[in-house]
Amino acid sequence: MKKYVYLLAILGLLGGCKNEENNQRTTVSVEEEHPGKALMELNCNACHSPTAGKNDRIAPPMIAVKRHYLEQGMSKDVFQAAILKWIENPIEEHTKMPGAIKKFGIMAKVDYPKKTINQIADYLYTNKIEKPDWFDEHYQKNKGKYEIASENGLPSYAEIGMKYAISTKSQLGKNLMGAIQSRGTEEAVSFCNTRAISITDSMSVVNNATIKRISDKARNPKNKANVEELRYIASFKELLANEKEIKPIVEEGEESVRFYFPIKTNAMCLQCHGKQGEDIRLSTYNRIKSLYPSDEAIGYEANQIRGMWSIQFDK
Ligand code: HEC
Ligand code: HEC
Repeated sequence: MKKYVYLLAILGLLGGCKNEENNQRTTVSVEEEHPGKALMELNCNACHSPTAGKNDRIAPPMIAVKRHYLEQGMSKDVFQAAILKWIENPIEEHTKMPGAIKKFGIMAKVDYPKKTINQIADYLYTNKIEKPDWFDEHYQKNKGKYEIASENGLPSYAEIGMKYAISTKSQLGKNLMGAIQSRGTEEAVSFCNTRAISITDSMSVVNNATIKRISDKARNPKNKANVEELRYIASFKELLANEKEIKPIVEEGEESVRFYFPIKTNAMCLQCHGKQGEDIRLSTYNRIKSLYPSDEAIGYEANQIRGMWSIQFDK
């Protein structure tokens, strides 16, 4: 029981209120569950997702990070120290994964508590962790190197659209995780309020495309899906419900291309998009309500479709 209370205390400190119902449901197994597991899910998996596909992710899965570090033959202490060193100062000279930096860009510096990182590293080292289904084959093929799967010839429109979506997601993710760690969830709401659209817009300028992050249940009314977009969101939801593979939708016009791809929730998102009183703290909820009186974007669980990238670019 002690472990359980301790876990809640850390989650509380991080502003990641776990939902009560969940805790009750998992009380039995929590006794055996390593505290680093929940901490990793909350703090790292938004980028290092164990379920995202090979081509729609913004960072390597944790299993890849673990293998790269362990390939160098490390004791647990050395492993923990190496992870901590990276988090405290993620610079190119410290990397053990240059291929990942080339593919995803370097990881942003976020001020996580040292204890959190040590717990996560301990969990990573001592436990078997979840890996994406494509991982083993990919890892074999690249002989352990996490390299860019080089495409032959020109990239398809689907690949171009995906590149825009991923780079925008990555910018938003870095800024959001930074705001949550340095200022807390409640202030991060205000950060999203003033910066989310401007970051998305600036990525549009950089890529010479129109990049929008829209939803069928929008928080900001400016992000409401139009009739056509609502239809696509519904079709993505159906694929997810039937556990079918989700591929981007690409529509070619005379001169331009439209690209659509769903945006899914993970555990981290629930502190602002989950259930009020369970995942969302009252202070956060109040801030959301004051900035967005007609907010519809709550009540989500992890791994649901929160919205969609709607991107248009010239041929
Ligand atoms: C905002 C997105 C994001 C978050 C959140 C994030 N990472 Fe990363 N991380 C990346 C990206 C992108 C890379 C790959 C590029 C690189 O190595 O810098 C990476 C790489 C790493 C590496 C390998 C570094 C190297 O190059 O040797 C480690 C270790 C790591 N992350 C640990 C963590 C841990 C632990 C957490 C949670 C406390 C975390 N990351 C959270 C984006 C993120
Ligand atoms: C700190 C609170 C916070 C967290 C955490 C958070 N969001 Fe949001 N989200 C917001 C706010 C505030 C807005 C409205 C931004 C604006 O005004 O443009 C928003 C808007 C969005 C939108 C645009 C559509 C809309 O409803 O306006 C999507 C899509 C979205 N979030 C998805 C996610 C996903 C996926 C995650 C987790 C990876 C996440 N959010 C995590 C606060 C948050």
